[in-house]
Amino acid sequence: MLQLLTASAAAHGPVNPWVALAYLVAGVFFILALRGLSSPVSARAGNRYGMAGMAIAVITTLVTHLNADIWEIAIAIAIGAVIGLVTARRIAMTAMPQLVAAFHSLVGLAAVLVAGAAFLNPDSFGILGADGTILGVSRIEMALGAAIGAITFSGSVIAFLKLNGNMSGSPILLPGRHIINLGVLISILVLAGLYTAAPGMGAGDGYYFPVIVLLAFAIGFLLIVPIGGADMPVVVSMLNSYSGWAAAAMGFTLGNTAMIITGALVGSSGAILSYIMCRAMNRSFISVIAGGFGAESGGDSGGGEKIDRPWKRGSADDAAFLMKQAETVIIVPGYGMAVAQAQHALREMTDILKEEGVSVKFAIHPVAGRMPGHMNVLLAEANVPYDDVFELEDINSEFSQADVAFVIGANDVTNPAAKTDKSSPIYGMPILDVENAKTVLFIKRSMGGVGYAGVDNEVFYRDNTMMLLSDAKKMCEEIVKALG
Ligand code: TAP
Repeated sequence: MLQLLTASAAAHGPVNPWVALAYLVAGVFFILALRGLSSPVSARAGNRYGMAGMAIAVITTLVTHLNADIWEIAIAIAIGAVIGLVTARRIAMTAMPQLVAAFHSLVGLAAVLVAGAAFLNPDSFGILGADGTILGVSRIEMALGAAIGAITFSGSVIAFLKLNGNMSGSPILLPGRHIINLGVLISILVLAGLYTAAPGMGAGDGYYFPVIVLLAFAIGFLLIVPIGGADMPVVVSMLNSYSGWAAAAMGFTLGNTAMIITGALVGSSGAILSYIMCRAMNRSFISVIAGGFGAESGGDSGGGEKIDRPWKRGSADDAAFLMKQAETVIIVPGYGMAVAQAQHALREMTDILKEEGVSVKFAIHPVAGRMPGHMNVLLAEANVPYDDVFELEDINSEFSQADVAFVIGANDVTNPAAKTDKSSPIYGMPILDVENAKTVLFIKRSMGGVGYAGVDNEVFYRDNTMMLLSDAKKMCEEIVKALG
């Protein structure tokens, strides 16, 4: 890394110390941003730090690159800002994962375009050696940046199509895919090696780079297509990591320290998040990347095997009565709460229960909903106090002492099959032990609906479970009325 940095610096000449200082300050802001984003309490401040860091980095780059056409850049920034603002305002919280995937695809494409520009016009990037060909070190950076960027682009497009429902969430398993993938990856590496050694080799020099890019586009597609819907969150965070590494590689080519720092931060934080999510789902990272998980379950499309057993139906009045009598209620929110936008009505319900002297806590599963932190964001939006919100490992043992587990639109994250049924697609995923509570109140719209993994949940049929079949918001509002 250090050698690459020095070689890159040599290619781009000495760095202005003021620019280096400004980029360093921007880097510190980005680190503070990541720190802030690690908790809902400090997330807003974290976002502000990130914005400040980005403003410093962009302004420094614009001011110090005198050959840049400021008007062209201003128009590009204005168009991007308008698209970003409109999208951010319009997007539903439930569609955030596909939006993130779409944004990652743009980062990947940007890396490919920068590498392509350097390939076509190396002189203006200051990466030509004494012999008039592109420096070896710059070739490594360009090949790496373009390859990772192209994988990020095509992989993110597939992730977007799957998450957005334009493509089936089920894995598409090509015969011999592992051999094909390995072959393509090895070809990319060999071509990158040849490209680096190419100066002066004549004919091949002009072809290696475009072929690397084409193969990388193909491998991004091939890698993501076999991955099932249930593993998509890990994929999105992995692509986030790739987009960071692509940006870092292009930072070397452009001789831009801010890009190297930012790319490395995004790359490593994305990799850590992928690891944390794999652990939360009890999946090995390698098996996620190898793909094929969820083939039996069919992802969001559902269709899991249904258990034909009796179940109890309850009403809002029953739920209100049971919770009013309870000493402790633990609420488990899931994707259905997000769909119904029931968080405000739920907050109202908990306020009334608290006034009645009931202890109310929220139990959050790390992959509840459709993106990391999905439930925390919604509860924060409804001003649920952070002190009432607990992570799985901190609250799971408390279900056995709770009078009521109130499950609102969560399914997979409460499914005991994850502990007992080896054939279940969610086997091994840690779950919230709601069935241990004295009574389980379970809100969902119908007995036919399934969760993300597409499997039935045994908790519905337990003696201590009462099904509250309704839209989550409507049910909470009715419970509020019944409590009043
Ligand atoms: P799910 O298992 O997807 O269950 C959602 C439940 O909400 C279903 O039972 C559904 O049943 C119900 N529901 C949907 N709309 C509703 C509405 N308007 N009112 C009331 N209920 C409604 O959710 P979960 O328990 O939160 O689990 C998350 C799953 O998503 C996991 O499998 C996880 O691996 C996966 N995943 C997670 C992420 C991240 S990072 N959080 C990202 C992608 C995927 P009805 O249809 O019958 O109403």
